[in-house]
Amino acid sequence: MRIDDLRRVLVIGLGTMGQEIALQCARFGFDVVCYDLDAEVGESCRGRLGTLVGQWVGAGLLPAADARRMLDRIRIEFEPAAAARQVDLLIECVPEIRRAKAEVFARFHELCPPEAVFVTNASYLTPSMLAKSTGRPELFAAFHFHDPVWVANVVDIMPHPGTAPATIELLAAFAERIDQIPIVCHKENHGYVFNSMLRSFLMTAIALASDGVADVEDIDRAWMGVMKTPIGPFGILDRIGLDTVYDIVQYWTLVSKDPQHAKSREFIKRLLDAGQLGLKSGHGFYRYPHPAFEQPGFLQPGR
Ligand SMILES: NC(=O)c1ccc[n+]([C@@H]2O[C@H](COP(=O)([O-])OP(=O)(O)OC[C@H]3O[C@@H](n4cnc5c(N)ncnc54)[C@H](O)[C@@H]3O)[C@@H](O)[C@H]2O)c1
Repeated sequence: MRIDDLRRVLVIGLGTMGQEIALQCARFGFDVVCYDLDAEVGESCRGRLGTLVGQWVGAGLLPAADARRMLDRIRIEFEPAAAARQVDLLIECVPEIRRAKAEVFARFHELCPPEAVFVTNASYLTPSMLAKSTGRPELFAAFHFHDPVWVANVVDIMPHPGTAPATIELLAAFAERIDQIPIVCHKENHGYVFNSMLRSFLMTAIALASDGVADVEDIDRAWMGVMKTPIGPFGILDRIGLDTVYDIVQYWTLVSKDPQHAKSREFIKRLLDAGQLGLKSGHGFYRYPHPAFEQPGFLQPGR
């Protein structure tokens, strides 16, 4: 398939990422079909998409007429067979559970045209863990977006050993058509490129604090003061959610056997036990909605 032949995109799983991806594809002229296993999610999807687009219009990022045209290009389907009809590209966005993703691919392989390309938006699973279930391994790769899609416009494209080079070329061209910077990986790696770097950065920050090298706020100050960023590692951890952070640290504690990871895990657990989940609970390393790192004096030398 050539990029000009790619017209219809099917997005499966309409959670945080699926709805953003559907909008991004529609925004750049693709016909988008959306499907979610949960019919209620499907039913509420149009309202949620409308709200997101309204925010773009409100922020002056999109003219209202374009917003209407964009929403008109999106169709919600409740039956898999109807969703799969005449699809050129399937983007899977269901939760990070290998079996769930594999079942989606196996089911839609039976329903989609044989030449349709399949991709996964998985965060840590590698494409070879899913390739067989797609029934079309040469037409399958990972295509990993970052949240929010229209701001953090970088997509990791990761082949598995059986992906055809033409599939990667097509996906790189598609990424550019939807205003995403394609990062084509040469080999498989859990966490792609940005997420791998981010993990090292955040794990180091947690290790510094749990080891008592410096206070949380000073670790953020060091990063923000040198790099001139509006947020430091502990502000980022609060945004991710400390329950999710705990799961990730726990995973690496088991995989790496590094004793520092166990120490870091206990450090995060103390906050969780106190009900501090980060931004979503209003309290994590910082208190929200006005965390200390956003206050004017945070980076002033004589504070
Ligand atoms: N949230 C992020 O910041 C982010 C960023 C990049 C990648 N990802 C990855 O994207 C994927 C989706 O993440 P999310 O945060 O959007 O998840 P989410 O939990 O917000 O949404 C998942 C959606 O999939 C639906 N679903 C579950 N099983 C299904 C099935 N069998 N068929 C159809 N729909 C099904 C659910 O009803 C739900 O609406 C995960 O693999 C995640 O790791 C997430």
